[in-house]
Amino acid sequence: MESLPFFIFFSTLFIQSLHFLSFSADIITPDLPVKDGQTLISVSQSFELGFFSPGTSKYRYVGIWYKKSPETVVWVANRNNPLTDHFGVLTIDNRGNLVLLDQIKNIIWSSKSSSIIAGPVAQLLDSGNLVVRDNGSSRNTESYRWQSFDQPSDTLLPGMKLGWNLKTGQERYLYTWRSISDPSPGDFTYRLDIHGLPQLFIVVGSVKKVRSGPWNGIFFGGTPKVHNSVFEPILVRNEDEIYYTYRLLNNSVCSRLTLNQSGAVERLVMYGQNSGWTTIYSVPVDTCENYGQCGANGICRTRTSPICECLKGFKSIPEEELDIQNFYGSRKCETRLTLDCQSGEGFLKLPGVKLPDLLEFRLNESMNLKECEAECFKNCSCSAFATTNLSGGGDGSGCLMWFGNLIDIREQSGSTIGQDIHIRVPASELEMARSSKRKKMLKTALVASMSALLGIFVSGLVLCISWRKIKRKVGMDRRKEGMEAPLFDLDTIATATNNFAPDSIIGAGGFGSVYKGKLLTGQEIAVKKLSMNSGQGVEEFRNEVVLIAKLQHRNLVGLLGSCIHREERMLIYEYMPNKSLDYFIFGLIPLTHCLFCHISSLSICNVLHVLN
Ligand SMILES: *[C@@H]1O[C@H](CO)[C@@H](O)[C@H](O)[C@H]1NC(C)=O
Ligand SMILES: *[C@@H]1O[C@H](CO)[C@@H](O)[C@H](O)[C@H]1NC(C)=O
Ligand SMILES: *[C@@H]1O[C@H](CO)[C@@H](O)[C@H](O)[C@H]1NC(C)=O
Ligand SMILES: *[C@@H]1O[C@H](CO)[C@@H](O)[C@H](O)[C@H]1NC(C)=O
Ligand SMILES: *[C@@H]1O[C@H](CO)[C@@H](O)[C@H](O)[C@H]1NC(C)=O
Ligand SMILES: *[C@@H]1O[C@H](CO)[C@@H](O)[C@H](O)[C@H]1NC(C)=O
Repeated sequence: MESLPFFIFFSTLFIQSLHFLSFSADIITPDLPVKDGQTLISVSQSFELGFFSPGTSKYRYVGIWYKKSPETVVWVANRNNPLTDHFGVLTIDNRGNLVLLDQIKNIIWSSKSSSIIAGPVAQLLDSGNLVVRDNGSSRNTESYRWQSFDQPSDTLLPGMKLGWNLKTGQERYLYTWRSISDPSPGDFTYRLDIHGLPQLFIVVGSVKKVRSGPWNGIFFGGTPKVHNSVFEPILVRNEDEIYYTYRLLNNSVCSRLTLNQSGAVERLVMYGQNSGWTTIYSVPVDTCENYGQCGANGICRTRTSPICECLKGFKSIPEEELDIQNFYGSRKCETRLTLDCQSGEGFLKLPGVKLPDLLEFRLNESMNLKECEAECFKNCSCSAFATTNLSGGGDGSGCLMWFGNLIDIREQSGSTIGQDIHIRVPASELEMARSSKRKKMLKTALVASMSALLGIFVSGLVLCISWRKIKRKVGMDRRKEGMEAPLFDLDTIATATNNFAPDSIIGAGGFGSVYKGKLLTGQEIAVKKLSMNSGQGVEEFRNEVVLIAKLQHRNLVGLLGSCIHREERMLIYEYMPNKSLDYFIFGLIPLTHCLFCHISSLSICNVLHVLN
């Protein structure tokens, strides 16, 4: 009678699912527990609580998930202590503790409410919060005896707090799941640091991995730019609490913040009823996000190669002088060009960066930028200053001063938002900055006057030509408007670069990769393959290629042509063996050309955009 156990098993399942169907309350009371197979559903059907087995696990856990996306578990009760059988019961005892019992009534997990309450009720709210309250007390009060929002798993739902209760010292932060089948806490955490100004960190153990910039009154500096109508970030700071939270702006759009198993923080959104989750941004964005990537007093830029550079006023220690241990460490840019407090020192503005970490600093939120500069100037070990509060507009208010080394500065990339910082530099750097500014102004003036002359000349020429045209009434041999730079086909370029062989790559960056190749004619070329996500249409790309070709000066490296194949966009240059790689990557259009932006109706800055 082998089929009997199966019959019993299936009929149990059937009965359980019947039970499941008939059970759709949102509360647990001592008389109304939830058994494995049953669920609680919040009033407007947004969240569901019940028993589940994640991934390939055979264990049972109690969790909360989106009703319309049951695979998205947002909270787990017994994450460290799974049930090994299918007979778990979640109930509430007379003292108001939520307790999870296994088949033989062992306590697997308990909520440990702080005080005894009379008519205890646990309720799953529409926010996804499971709360314990007095039956007597009003449903709307925040006076919960216990709530699941106080014990986050890997997900921050709208209204949940990430941060500190200053009265109790309690910290709420996100953990990763250990794996897709194991919700016990993994290595990564996402937490709010509140020394000075609040900053968000992804941490492994106690090691900082990724940092947001300090909260500047509107957002965390250096975080991804999100033009969104989905959520509003909120930072609450008062004497009781400091925490980050957010609220949804459109109730028909769901959003959550999740620290996933690879240690990335993802902001996910679901627009329609069952349209699935879309990641609108994730952190880290790129290599420059790695905490302290460029060491002390270095700045990380994704669009340069190498990505690290010493800040102005610091010189790098030659690599051969670094011992291995310090090679990736913080000593690289530690040497100042001159001693501190030499006469003529001053501050240079470094715009659009993620402000350095708050290690040694001083904060005064009532100063303005001028006072801040004066204060920082007075103290030789003050290495930089910035304003702290951008919400009043202008340069901002408040004063943040850094002492000693500056750690973890990055330049704003296309997808993050930066702030201005003022860095102490020696007189020589100030002089250099001044003279380059003067040069720039001179050049602009020159270009402007030349363009005026050019304008007169061109209009004269046009008049002249039209006059001749009219006079002769001869049909012009209309030369085709020049693609001075020819189009190469993909095969030619593929052959030349040995099918874009990885070992022919001579450089790479955010723009894409540069390959060295050889045409069948024997000519050596450098192929700049732009990354696919540049999002440029064929027409725009061609126009810009024409523009670069027209801009070429005989002293510049030659653009031989371009190649467009489906989504691929490539620029093909003569290969100049004696030129540095940066020359191919960045030096192709000298800065002077950008000055034309002021006078040209064509957007030459877009050329720079293409190149970078
Ligand atoms: C809650 O209180 C009301 C009246 O005060 C009572 O009728 C109800 O049974 C109570 N419910 C629970 C679960 O204690
Ligand atoms: C975590 O998020 C990052 C960024 O969205 C993604 O690349 C990665 O695959 C995710 N990892 C897991 C395990 O989902
Ligand atoms: C809310 O989101 C839905 C779905 O994306 C959209 O159709 C609707 O226009 C949005 N409402 C508002 C007020 O933005
Ligand atoms: C902050 O700056 C103001 C104005 O300069 C000053 O009066 C005040 O004493 C400063 N506070 C601290 C804590 O330094
Ligand atoms: C400069 O600032 C540092 C750090 O706040 C402080 O320890 C030091 O005493 C200050 N020096 C002077 C001369 O004010
Ligand atoms: C930031 O500036 C705004 C506007 O000036 C002000 O209302 C707010 O209180 C300031 N915040 C802090 C923390 O000083």
